[in-house]
Amino acid sequence: METIPLFVICFLIQLFTFQTPTRATLPGTWELLVQNAGIASMHTTVTRFNTVILLDRTNIGPTRKLLPKNHCRFTKTKPDCYAHSVLFDPIKNQLRPLKILTDTWCSSGSFLPNGSLLQTGGDLDGFKKIRIFNPCDSTGSCDWEELNDVELSEGRWYATNQILPDGSIIIIGGRGSNTVEFYPKRENGVVLFPFLQETEDTQMDNLYPYVHLLPNGKLFVFANTKSVMYDFNENRVVRVYPELTGGPRNYPSAGSSVMLALEGEFSEAVVVVCGGAQYGAFLERNTDIPAHGSCGRIMATGSDPVWEMEDMPFARIMGDMVILPTGDVLIINGAMKGTQGFEMGSDPCLNPVLYRPGEPVGLRFMVLNPGTVPRLYHSTANLLPDGRVLLAGSNPHVFYRFVDVEFATELKIEAFSPEYLDSDKANIRPKILEVPETVLYGVGFDVVVSVPLPVVGIIEVNLGSAPFATHSFSQGQRLIKLGVASAMVDGDQRWRIRCTAPPSGMVAPPGYYMLFAVNQGVPSVARWIHMS
Ligand SMILES: *[C@@H]1O[C@H](CO)[C@@H](O)[C@H](O)[C@H]1NC(C)=O
Repeated sequence: METIPLFVICFLIQLFTFQTPTRATLPGTWELLVQNAGIASMHTTVTRFNTVILLDRTNIGPTRKLLPKNHCRFTKTKPDCYAHSVLFDPIKNQLRPLKILTDTWCSSGSFLPNGSLLQTGGDLDGFKKIRIFNPCDSTGSCDWEELNDVELSEGRWYATNQILPDGSIIIIGGRGSNTVEFYPKRENGVVLFPFLQETEDTQMDNLYPYVHLLPNGKLFVFANTKSVMYDFNENRVVRVYPELTGGPRNYPSAGSSVMLALEGEFSEAVVVVCGGAQYGAFLERNTDIPAHGSCGRIMATGSDPVWEMEDMPFARIMGDMVILPTGDVLIINGAMKGTQGFEMGSDPCLNPVLYRPGEPVGLRFMVLNPGTVPRLYHSTANLLPDGRVLLAGSNPHVFYRFVDVEFATELKIEAFSPEYLDSDKANIRPKILEVPETVLYGVGFDVVVSVPLPVVGIIEVNLGSAPFATHSFSQGQRLIKLGVASAMVDGDQRWRIRCTAPPSGMVAPPGYYMLFAVNQGVPSVARWIHMS
């Protein structure tokens, strides 16, 4: 092998010069929506008016947004004229300050069947507080309402809320509260949930439990490394799942979890738990211990379920898992070292990854285009009705800090657009023309869409809930793929899709959902429908 023919050398040179530009482009695009949201959002949720409620703690001192004149908060100490919550319009990129009184630090939330947000607990004067937000569009004047005639039976700090098939809300756990309770209140009041005691360790690790309402009407509850199927009506654990290896996953160890899209006969549900910190990182306040990158996946409704393990392309703590309208899961935000908590994460993970549940193990993850803004502790990710994902917050400090810190308090709001929003997909993107406002369980209904190019086969119709995102877990997140018939021609570029509504509140609890039409992996802008 002394001489290499010239044409081979030329070929190699060509290969290199051609590959360089293509390798630089990973899927997905980033957009800066506002430079200064005024607050760093710790809790974020999207309303049925296409507005977004951003919410921080109230005892955090000065933010970068003032309340309107003469609207200061009066707390026991001194007047506070700063906003700690804002209403954001992600189309107009407009913000309006909201006024919240009691402390919402590490609180929880869920939408009620009538589209109002129920927001519960927090710290200090907010510990037992119940708040309602009746949402509006960006021209309205909706604001927080704090209930004075009713409060939680126990203080709840770091609890998880989940709407139930009958439209009531269960509130699970919290620091020092290994119990559950309901809104509206049930006769049995506060109920001890021993599973939360079993999963509490020296660094806690049972906070913000991962809760998913299974289509059999029971709850899948995951805390620390353990999980159970819980019958909340009987207050009974009906199944104990095998332990998930790879260390603790909940707060403060900062993994995340989703229940994959429900579909078909709605008899099965698959839960995925990804990422987390090494045990001890929180106790030792160690910002440099590498996070773990494993995901466990389990058929929660199966007869003999086991965790199937798979590694993400990056180790990650404080990653948010967002179910996209297609059923793929976007894993975004977070860090690769340390743990959750003030000043405890480092090495931001700027690359989102896409988890494609239908692919075989080993081919499920796709690395996406990296962002530039570190989103660490107290940051959020939410699916918007137009298919983008909204990123807000990050504040690893006790108060707001903008100078002399490695990771400043983050006031920018960004949107990440998955590849399905690329302009070269415009020809197959459906636009919803007709959809009912209200849909009853089990009934058939039609969705009419327009699509520029001829449609081949099935257009999916998928319902996405609007979850309450905080601490890298989206409370109440679910996607339901409806039974659909093949799209039928209904005029020029118009298609009519016959769908069947979810059979019951166990599959889709009552309330408002974003209805997406999805053609060959490309979603429409959603229309909100009411399930009842
Ligand atoms: C929804 O119900 C709650 C009570 O459960 C109530 O406080 C709220 O005002 C209602 N919202 C609307 C829009 O009627």
